[in-house]
Amino acid sequence: MNVPGQKVRVLMVCLGNICRSPTAHGVFLQRVESAGLAEFIEVDSAGTGDWHIGRQPDPRTCRAAQARGYDLTPLRARQVRPDDFESFDYILAMDEDNLNNLQALCPPHLHDKLKLFLDFADDARVRYVPDPYYGEEDGFQQVLDLVENASGSLLDHIRRQHL
Ligand code: 4NP
Repeated sequence: MNVPGQKVRVLMVCLGNICRSPTAHGVFLQRVESAGLAEFIEVDSAGTGDWHIGRQPDPRTCRAAQARGYDLTPLRARQVRPDDFESFDYILAMDEDNLNNLQALCPPHLHDKLKLFLDFADDARVRYVPDPYYGEEDGFQQVLDLVENASGSLLDHIRRQHL
């Protein structure tokens, strides 16, 4: 349970912070706002890599998201920082490599904050959001499908646990 008055803070993490985690950031934020919970839940995203710091999400990511009603263009890539492990409550990796990278960076006593984002999805058979960067358009649609599904379940979980 969080301290009353303090927000529940959620950090979405992938490799570059230009495809999967900004999609998760934008979709989950819209779910939070639509539920009237923006006062209680904060959302951010970051990458484990540093190649794209300061950049907008990939244009293919922005286009696919826009077509479903999510505007990702205000987002800018940043890298995971050491203080993220203290300040966020949920640090959600898009795939196993991202989770391994986070586990290597995170102080051991905070490891229980690290999870796969799809741990919250309804379909337990799919555990990872596949990296669409070197693929075709359908990969970006698949990212959105997985992220939309897990976002609703994550919001239900946070409501039950914290609100
Ligand atoms: P993301 O996708 O981790 O979902 O943002 C990638 C973006 C860039 C690269 C790899 C994956 N890259 O190699 O630059």
